[in-house]
Amino acid sequence: MKILLVTAHPRADSLTFAAAKAFAEAAKGNGHEIEIADLTAEGFDPVLREPDEPDWSDSKKVYSAAVRAEMARIKRNDATVMVFPVWWWSMPALLKGWIDRVWNNGWAYGDRNYPHSRAWMLAIAGSSAEAYAKRDYDDAMRTQLEVGILGYCGIAETRLEILFDAIEGPPGPETILAAARRLGSEF
Ligand SMILES: Cc1cc2nc3c(=O)[nH]c(=O)nc-3n(C[C@H](O)[C@H](O)[C@H](O)COP(=O)(O)O)c2cc1C
Repeated sequence: MKILLVTAHPRADSLTFAAAKAFAEAAKGNGHEIEIADLTAEGFDPVLREPDEPDWSDSKKVYSAAVRAEMARIKRNDATVMVFPVWWWSMPALLKGWIDRVWNNGWAYGDRNYPHSRAWMLAIAGSSAEAYAKRDYDDAMRTQLEVGILGYCGIAETRLEILFDAIEGPPGPETILAAARRLGSEF
């Protein structure tokens, strides 16, 4: 399978990038091809403007050139994997903006479904599983991100994996990288 691996993190030496790399290497070992979409390095603009969604209800509308380029990048792949840090119990605004702008009505939901039948999210979390469970942040993220975005767009094989303890470990970074590798080999 060709996998579009989408990341959003300001630091190239982040654990998020290391986890993305670990996932990619394991997935390649499993016979997949990887195309990286590094939204920060690419300077992706996350703000949805009028040309990106010119007319909500017109099925013949033409999306902006930037959005069409992202749609083409998605379409030349067979699956999507997003690897991101948890920021405020959600994804970074940059990645959310990529979804806002590109996963449009009439293209990813509405008359059509998102082009891929498999999309996973790997969320790198600073806090522990216990801290998440205390306030049901994990359930909230699952509802909002996995059900509310991936499921809403008709994607059949969805997965949200929250990899805990990036900061509060142990177990810490090595466990997160091992989990990312395991997920790459399971993909
Ligand atoms: C703006 C910001 C918000 C954050 N919010 C959360 C959060 O809500 N929950 C959490 O577990 N970690 C949070 N963190 C910690 C990140 O998840 C952590 O940096 C990341 O998991 C792993 O480290 P990395 O930044 O080296 O990739 C936040 C970090 C930043 C910079």
